Amino acid sequence: MRDAVIRGGKASVLWLRERRRLERLLARIPVDGDRSRHSHRLLAPTATLSPWYDDEGFLATYEAVADHTLVDIYRCWDLWSALAQVAAVSGDVLEVGVWRGGTGALLAERSRWLGLDATVVLADTFRGVVGAGSEDPWYRGGEHSDTSVALVEDLLGRFPGISTLVAEGMFPDDTGDALADRSLRLVHIDVDVYDSAKATLEWAWPRLGVGGLVIFDDYGFYECEGVATLGAELMAAAGTALRGITSLNGHLTLVKLSDEPLPTC
Ligand SMILES: C[S@@+](CC[C@H](N)C(=O)[O-])C[C@H]1O[C@@H](n2cnc3c(N)ncnc32)[C@H](O)[C@@H]1O
Repeated sequence: MRDAVIRGGKASVLWLRERRRLERLLARIPVDGDRSRHSHRLLAPTATLSPWYDDEGFLATYEAVADHTLVDIYRCWDLWSALAQVAAVSGDVLEVGVWRGGTGALLAERSRWLGLDATVVLADTFRGVVGAGSEDPWYRGGEHSDTSVALVEDLLGRFPGISTLVAEGMFPDDTGDALADRSLRLVHIDVDVYDSAKATLEWAWPRLGVGGLVIFDDYGFYECEGVATLGAELMAAAGTALRGITSLNGHLTLVKLSDEPLPTC
């Protein structure tokens, strides 16, 4: 029974992917004028501000990565916007959880646009999710293994002038040491499960500049309960070290307020 439920859940995620593809196609058709492109009004009828449709650079980049990402346009816009917020913090950008490279390429292209002195480090096993445990009711390990370093590098090659580094292996166990000397301004954690998300955060926190951001994907998504659990623990322990800002779109953003150690949770 449990396996049947999990199989059903996975099938619905695949359906969601197709639905997003359809939404992107429909968004190009101005059925009742420009406002018809604002499809999020179906969820939040009075929230029609959609700056992502007015930013040509973002739209072109999103279109170029959309078939390489599981992340929707709203969260991609969050990432695009967040990099401008940390322009004054020095250091690199780290993404753990790359899959086919969509959000990583978007971050790298945005970094180039902003003229940041930053390498975007893209860390993934490229063999699927690892570290699933008791906090993660849905994941078993190995999900999202339908990718490769070559596939990601092919996507990155379509963006001349970006600065990226691909780190293949489990993070931080396999690849953390080689990256240990880097300072960071933004960390994007998109690993789906509790232990990997926590281990990534603990590794990144001392390297993150004050004012830097950690953005968790998967926050509040039904198949990623472990990330919501971690987020709740972090916000309960936050003290004066950090602020946690939640969003209904599936992002939890931590703002680093001081050089204090990461609160224990
Ligand atoms: C949902 S996908 C990432 C989606 C991607 N950001 C996008 O644009 O679609 C999750 C990824 O996390 C990776 N992953 C999970 N735990 C990891 C870990 N500890 N180290 C490296 N990669 C990990 C998996 O291999 C998988 O590719």
